[in-house]
Amino acid sequence: MKSHAATALRWLDFPWATLRWLLRGERCLDDFRTAFAATLGVDPVRVHLFGSGRAALHAYVASLGLPAGSEVLLPGYTCVVVPQVFDNLGLTLRYVDIEPGDFNPGAAAIADAIAPQTRLVLLPHNFGLCLQDIAGLRARFPDVVFVEDAAHAWGSRSADGRVAGTLGHAAFFSFEYSKPLSTGLGGALVVNDTAAWQPPAQHRPATSAVLRQALTLAWHRLVQTLPTPLLQAAKQLLRGPSRRLGVVADTPRAELQGDVQPDYALGLHPWSAALGTAQAQRAAEVWAARRGQADIYDRLLAALPPAQRPERAAGDVLLRYPLRLLPGSDREALTQALAREGIELGRWFDDVVHPHGSRRPGYRDGDCPVGEATAACIVNLPLGLHARLSRHQGQALQRALVTPEPRP
Ligand SMILES: Cc1ncc(COP(=O)(O)O)c(C=O)c1O
Repeated sequence: MKSHAATALRWLDFPWATLRWLLRGERCLDDFRTAFAATLGVDPVRVHLFGSGRAALHAYVASLGLPAGSEVLLPGYTCVVVPQVFDNLGLTLRYVDIEPGDFNPGAAAIADAIAPQTRLVLLPHNFGLCLQDIAGLRARFPDVVFVEDAAHAWGSRSADGRVAGTLGHAAFFSFEYSKPLSTGLGGALVVNDTAAWQPPAQHRPATSAVLRQALTLAWHRLVQTLPTPLLQAAKQLLRGPSRRLGVVADTPRAELQGDVQPDYALGLHPWSAALGTAQAQRAAEVWAARRGQADIYDRLLAALPPAQRPERAAGDVLLRYPLRLLPGSDREALTQALAREGIELGRWFDDVVHPHGSRRPGYRDGDCPVGEATAACIVNLPLGLHARLSRHQGQALQRALVTPEPRP
């Protein structure tokens, strides 16, 4: 319950991936492509691996050769690295607000927002909640390119049973630490409309970078099961030295701020691919765990007004369980209270262009009021293989989140 990262990873995956990498070398990349494609039910030739989700998105959008200034519609609730891709390619951004009570824009709002100058629409499945009726949008706007941001949605399906990531012209997945399948950093592009698509030239991450990612993943894995007092001690002991020695790998602040351009030409290392294969092979187990835990949260929090809870469809596999707190709730106090119970409350998407304090490329204050209001009150609960909730933790969660009925 203590970490939102490395949620499909097991300790044995580390030696298994290393052995596989020593035995199969470069072929680990094909193995992962095949294993990941199988989880989506697509031909592996349609799956291309990258060093990050943003690199996958960049490669696809760049390949379209859209004229500078072409308009792109983005969800008014997204991660800053997504608009940065389009900004980098000289495209014009416009945001479509999310639906009240949801975390994605609705298909109807997207259809209303599409204008003659719109060339591409980015379709989110935030938190794993599958955006519905993509087929309808594609039929109505045959000249617009629809790209799914499936970073959160590994395993989710639309209401008609189709797999998220196979619904748009193309889709990208992220294998970053906090995503449903994590190789450290990494991503995949799924090209649905042409088998002939070829990725641009890539370069391999340095071995030292992969080592840092492996150490960071191992830390996240440790955090999940270490008893709280031991974890506090380990954090005190290791935080300083690990930062100083640069063994913690994540997206640098300057990159999130847009001061430094991401390395869009970065590929995936074969060792990382081997680590991904181990997780892809247990997809059914991971998805079942996520579904089961979301059901438990549903039951525990059933007394909350529906607007506070995620409205899940049968096909959704959530990455995290998002909640809207009541106005005036103290997120910080709640975070502390749950941390004492060994439950890490997530604070993801605390800005309409996440994270809080990003430069929000192309966004003007007030463009998406529902997204802004949601960002101001959102928290999330962990899901994944290591997010089992004890009976005591369940009761603590209910006490902390469900406001007692006023007494007569
Ligand atoms: C919704 C969403 N899309 C895209 C990304 C980018 O993926 P990556 O970090 O692999 O580039 C993220 C998170 O990082 C995300 O949360």
